[in-house]
Amino acid sequence: MGAGKSTLGPVLAERLGRPSVSTDAVVEERAGATVPEIFELRGEAEFRAREEEAALDVLARSQLAVIELGGGALGSSRTRDALAERAFTVHLETSPEEAWERVARTDRPLVRDADAFRSLYEQRRPLYEAADASATDLDGVLLAAAGIRFGSHRAVEAEALVADACVAELHAVPATHTVPRGEAAKTVAEAELLWRALRLDRTSRIAAVGGGSTTDVAGFVAATYLRGIDWIAVPSTLVGQVDAAIGGKVGIDLPEGKNLVGAFHWPVATVIDTALLETLPDEERRNGLAEVVKTGLLLGEPVWERDTTAQVRSCAAFKAAICLRDPRELGDRTQLNLGHTFAHALEAASGYAVPHGRAVALGLVAALRLSGLEDGVRVVEDVLAPTPVAVDRDAAWAALQRDKKARDGEIRLVLLEALGRPRVTSEIEPERVRAALDAVIA
Ligand SMILES: NC(=O)c1ccc[n+]([C@@H]2O[C@H](COP(=O)([O-])OP(=O)(O)OC[C@H]3O[C@@H](n4cnc5c(N)ncnc54)[C@H](O)[C@@H]3O)[C@@H](O)[C@H]2O)c1
Repeated sequence: MGAGKSTLGPVLAERLGRPSVSTDAVVEERAGATVPEIFELRGEAEFRAREEEAALDVLARSQLAVIELGGGALGSSRTRDALAERAFTVHLETSPEEAWERVARTDRPLVRDADAFRSLYEQRRPLYEAADASATDLDGVLLAAAGIRFGSHRAVEAEALVADACVAELHAVPATHTVPRGEAAKTVAEAELLWRALRLDRTSRIAAVGGGSTTDVAGFVAATYLRGIDWIAVPSTLVGQVDAAIGGKVGIDLPEGKNLVGAFHWPVATVIDTALLETLPDEERRNGLAEVVKTGLLLGEPVWERDTTAQVRSCAAFKAAICLRDPRELGDRTQLNLGHTFAHALEAASGYAVPHGRAVALGLVAALRLSGLEDGVRVVEDVLAPTPVAVDRDAAWAALQRDKKARDGEIRLVLLEALGRPRVTSEIEPERVRAALDAVIA
């Protein structure tokens, strides 16, 4: 009570693209009376019976939803059983003092005096501790729902520990298996080495410590070994912590192209240890910062102005929400490609010599110009300062067109209507798209 459920519930539901359901509202609707009225006229026992009925009905529905449930509802063992079976539960944490501040002047039943309120809180506390996770704010709930937590990489336990060779050395990771640093890990040959070296049963877990390249290949091996075993991602780059280790896309490259073989296989946990970033080279940091800026533009918040841990937290929560909303990339997840259609074209035309972060930064500039958002262009220029790349214009345009061939001859772009308001469109004339691309080529 007073933790902020009713404020947070609908916002969370919107972020996850699910309906928001309040059990209190269901009770009130069925009774034709407000909760305080039910308490007053019929007593708490009657309210609890109705609350249990509402909770069980709501939990029995097949549609995914965000459900607000008051702490008192956990007094019912039937409700607790249904929650354990049907729901991912997050305890929205608050101190009794803070909660009292919020509810003291309301007409809520059970709000009599501060002492009684505190003792009720203490009495219920053990029930709250049974929740799957606890959080204090919106991002905290999103992170928990996606299995993302902040902590030391040393606390991660798994039967096999696959690490980027360079990271293993720098951070004394007790790896059972290493993969070559960077993109070289994402080959069929490296996957085969892992498949053949692993001695695991289906209850074992693989943990992967490294950047996106390591988590991509290790996650892919986990997706395929013994038809799929659990894995834990421990991203060691900024790109990994804000993007690659979140959302369950795993895969390897073929000589024919990047990420051509892969799967959707969510890690059972993603453990983010920002201390790992201390050894990250500048160029890798810039690659990550480009994704941070992209996320801030999509979110409509100046995430790039925050300190690193706060950047990672907001960006990871943002990506988690979109991926929970669209786990198989059938819709909303497309927005994460903001700037990337141009970036891929520049990278391909350079034979992948342009760093990904610089290509993304230029891609963002192109997409924001087409969106008519000069404010956004300035942010990218201030924070990422990308300089145009010297690649062959026709080659870059041809690469961008190849993307288009795969999609019924249309060039689909993610643009922004305003900061924080992405839209996917195929209505921009090819000449304008080409002009935007040309403008970021030296
Ligand atoms: N699965 C996804 O959703 C997703 C999303 C984005 C990117 N990716 C993939 O991620 C890959 C790129 O990953 P990345 O940018 O994280 O880099 P990376 O894994 O390729 O590593 C880049 C370099 O950084 C080094 N490194 C990593 N952690 C370090 C640390 N803590 N200190 C010092 N050096 C460190 C590595 O040894 C390597 O040399 C690409 O293959 C891309 O396709 C996947």
